[in-house]
Amino acid sequence: MKAVFFVLNALAGLAMGDCAARLRVTRDATVGFNGIMCNNDTVPCSSIPQGLQNTLMSFRGNRDYERILLGFDLPLNNVQKCILHIPPPTEAAADTTEVTVSTTDNIWDEATVNGFTKPLNADRVAAANVTKENGAVVDITHACANASNHKLSLFVDTTSSMITFNSLQSGSSDVFVLEYFF
Ligand SMILES: *[C@@H]1O[C@H](CO)[C@@H](O)[C@H](O)[C@H]1NC(C)=O
Ligand SMILES: *[C@@H]1O[C@H](CO)[C@@H](O)[C@H](O)[C@H]1NC(C)=O
Ligand SMILES: *[C@@H]1O[C@H](CO)[C@@H](O)[C@H](O)[C@H]1NC(C)=O
Repeated sequence: MKAVFFVLNALAGLAMGDCAARLRVTRDATVGFNGIMCNNDTVPCSSIPQGLQNTLMSFRGNRDYERILLGFDLPLNNVQKCILHIPPPTEAAADTTEVTVSTTDNIWDEATVNGFTKPLNADRVAAANVTKENGAVVDITHACANASNHKLSLFVDTTSSMITFNSLQSGSSDVFVLEYFF
């Protein structure tokens, strides 16, 4: 690996003189896809935006299905390697949770996205075991190379039990990050 990885304080920035960037997620949301009714059975839960909450959740139950949606802004340069850092979960039902990472379209807004506006369509690109202690590190170079208009959107889905993470709104530094070499 010819690039050196620098941790930057900036929200997103390029390491000077080196071909690496640490890119914090620029928008993130939980999206519900289920038939459950909320607000005393008056509103489909899936129609309620959750993007501005402090947490992100992926959950797969008999009736419930929540997915984590992430958006990254990519540098102009051609990508050599691209690594997704999944932070340690804030809550997880098991010590290790398997998740899948899929690419999806960029046509969504953090404040409004919900299961009625966001199509489920996604191309699976990777899977990883997320540990409570360390999170996970996932090579998604192909997905970054295939991104268009310098935007990358990902669904992160649990394959089994519930898992939650800090969202951008939490104010935590432990959010989803792309380590981007170019
Ligand atoms: C929920 O709906 C039921 C049935 O319409 C009603 O009796 C009850 O008062 C409602 N509860 C709230 C908190 O609105
Ligand atoms: C996660 O761990 C399980 C159990 O060890 C293993 O079967 C599975 O292949 C692992 N998944 C990934 C993506 O590494
Ligand atoms: C690659 O990009 C094309 C065009 O944007 C898209 O349709 C396809 O889903 C992408 N594939 C992956 C694996 O990201």
